[in-house]
Amino acid sequence: MVFYMPGRSGSSPLDEASRAPLVDSLTPPEVVSELDRFIVGQTDAKRAVAIALRNRWRRRQLPAPLADEVLPKNILMIGPTGVGKTEIARRLARLTGSPFLKIEATKYTEVGYVGRDCESMIRDLVELSLEMLRQQKRQEIGQAAARSVEDRLLEALAAPHAPGFGSEPARERVEAREKLRARLRSGELEEEIVEIELSESAPPAFKIAGGPGMEEIDVRLGEMMPGMFGSRSRKRRMKVAEARPLLQAEEEERRLDRQDLAREAIARTEQSGIVFLDELDKIAGAQSGHGPDVSRQGVQRDLLPIVEGTIVQTKHGQVRTDHILFIAAGAFHVAKPSDLIPEMQGRFPIRVELDRLDKNDFERILREPENSLIKQYQALLEVDGVELQLTEAAVTEIATLADDVNRRTEDIGARRLATVLERLLEPVLFDAPLKVNGRVVIDAPDVRSILDAVYQQQDLARYVL
Ligand SMILES: Nc1ncnc2c1ncn2[C@@H]1O[C@H](COP(=O)(O)OP(=O)(O)OP(=O)(O)O)[C@@H](O)[C@H]1O
Ligand SMILES: [Mg+2]
Repeated sequence: MVFYMPGRSGSSPLDEASRAPLVDSLTPPEVVSELDRFIVGQTDAKRAVAIALRNRWRRRQLPAPLADEVLPKNILMIGPTGVGKTEIARRLARLTGSPFLKIEATKYTEVGYVGRDCESMIRDLVELSLEMLRQQKRQEIGQAAARSVEDRLLEALAAPHAPGFGSEPARERVEAREKLRARLRSGELEEEIVEIELSESAPPAFKIAGGPGMEEIDVRLGEMMPGMFGSRSRKRRMKVAEARPLLQAEEEERRLDRQDLAREAIARTEQSGIVFLDELDKIAGAQSGHGPDVSRQGVQRDLLPIVEGTIVQTKHGQVRTDHILFIAAGAFHVAKPSDLIPEMQGRFPIRVELDRLDKNDFERILREPENSLIKQYQALLEVDGVELQLTEAAVTEIATLADDVNRRTEDIGARRLATVLERLLEPVLFDAPLKVNGRVVIDAPDVRSILDAVYQQQDLARYVL
């Protein structure tokens, strides 16, 4: 059976140049192979998120009445600590360019109690979406803005240098200006002091710290009563090099339409937003009817409508949560998915289990990912002129040791590699570049001799590895 054509083989589908803002049009195999660049194994989880992502793109291609019917199938990732749950979600977010919020379920408290209420996650998501959009738009209008910035700089530069500037014949004025422009572009005027007029930052805003559900309501008087404060501006003197970024930001902001931005940010949130709900197991509790369980269930109840689809008020407008994708994760060691309230269980129909990582996975995690820990340490040490090399045998030894410590003490998954490597490289990290420089080769016996002393004493291993 062939489901898809290999298509664009060779380079990865996401070359830097094609890192477009919204790419949830990636096919599932493409998503998986992108995730493979950073995460070892966990194929089920990768496939599940890839399909979920593709399904929302598929949905958007459907005619309107049907598209409204198709709701996202939320995913529950179940697996021990340190095996890649958060990492998968994090990478997915970077890949898609969708507004993506990662939050811990434990951060929320039931409505009526002091703390953050669940709806604030949607408000946060909209803020995020808005910020992403603003960045993107600013890039689009950057060039046009830069031209205005240049003109403003020329004006500021011309003013003190040619007092009679305005009275000269038009042709000469233009010529002088073009000469100045050439000099500005060549970079020779960067140190010149200019006086520029910058508009003052936003009009006064008051944060009203209200009761539950009322947090973060800022009242921007300027927005409520436009014209009342006017747009004040202030003259400042500074170097051309310092003025340019300030003017650029101002010109870009001036070209953005706040209302359009807000409308589009909300549309994006509704259509392609992803919320990653970490530690969901921590708010699951067998029903006992009193103690902390009551408030846990309260949080679940508050979460439910949001996951199910509701309308949340934000300061930028109303947001419908129907098509937002929720990916929940948790170890579910103590509490089981069945300890969640039934409605909540039903909201996360796709269950994927992530596997415990063993010695073989650790070897691959050390060797393969583009950002592997070893590569990170190598890059760091290179700054100090040290070329770090670990032999294949050394890598195997580290993986074996990490797995062993995980079994003997507590299984913290791939995080163990970080503690082991840090311990192993401590001498080099400390002594580079003064006592250690040039090439440093670490072989299996070195790994053993450095780590054995710690490792042999179980109590010590518990603390330092
Ligand atoms: N399969 C894997 N491949 C590569 N790196 C991994 C893998 N699993 C975990 N890691 C690395 O281990 C660290 C911890 O992983 P992550 O944050 O995803 O754990 P988690 O599953 O979310 O655990 P927890 O339940 O404690 O939140 C990260 O730095 C991640 O890069
Ligand atoms: Mg996590």
